Amino acid sequence: MEIVIQPTAEAATKIAARLVAGLIRERPAAVLGLATGSTPLLLYRELIAMKLDWSKLTTFNLDEYVGISPQHPQSYRSFMWENLFQHVNVAVKHVNIPDGLANDIPGSCGRYEQKIKGAGGIDLQVLGIGTDGHIGFNEPTSSLSSRTRIKTLTPQTIKDNAHFFGSEKDVPHHVLTMGIGTILEARHCLLLAFGGKKARAIAEAVEGPITSMNPASALQLHPKVTVCLDEAAAAELKLKDYYRWVFDHKPDWQK
Ligand code: F6R
Repeated sequence: MEIVIQPTAEAATKIAARLVAGLIRERPAAVLGLATGSTPLLLYRELIAMKLDWSKLTTFNLDEYVGISPQHPQSYRSFMWENLFQHVNVAVKHVNIPDGLANDIPGSCGRYEQKIKGAGGIDLQVLGIGTDGHIGFNEPTSSLSSRTRIKTLTPQTIKDNAHFFGSEKDVPHHVLTMGIGTILEARHCLLLAFGGKKARAIAEAVEGPITSMNPASALQLHPKVTVCLDEAAAAELKLKDYYRWVFDHKPDWQK
């Protein structure tokens, strides 16, 4: 795992954006895994400003709420259109988001997995982290080898996401999410976290034991993970001075 600690979310996002942009320039037909929520908003803004060519890219989103229509303002489809897709030249037919209104949920989740495989797998997966350590919507105690499926949000995540919906009672309880096993198959995972509310989850994910109680800790098993943090999200890391030193003294070939 590479841990990048920057003074602000903006600075950490710039590094993450360079990484995503590097892939898009190098592999115009790459497969990107995308996240929603507050965390990647800065990243999407930065990528839009870079005026990259998205025309050959394929995208797969991590998750979607069950039971709300794609047109609902808080559906993750609406989120992606509003915050990224309408601002870039992505091909609509290459955009993939789990179908929260599917009649046959297991079938639709299985097809989502097949589509990822069919596209050649995900080159780079963007991830945020929940205050309870979830990635995608793999809540604590999710199987570390899980695949795309339906999950029930924890009361904590419902509380955390209430600001998007205006009130807790309007947050759907069920979601479709790529599994941890699905995420671990991406060739590169890029985890972003900003703010003191994420500090505990990040410390447990990076330095704690691998445990389904903090699903993001499964990323310790992945050979290529970049974690971009601001100071506040890095606050509880025991080895933060070491991570800073490593980043500042990278050999030229690794920069
Ligand atoms: C959303 C997702 C979630 C969020 C997490 C953090 O697609 O995968 O894991 O990344 O809930 O949400 P924010 O960024 O709103 O704090």
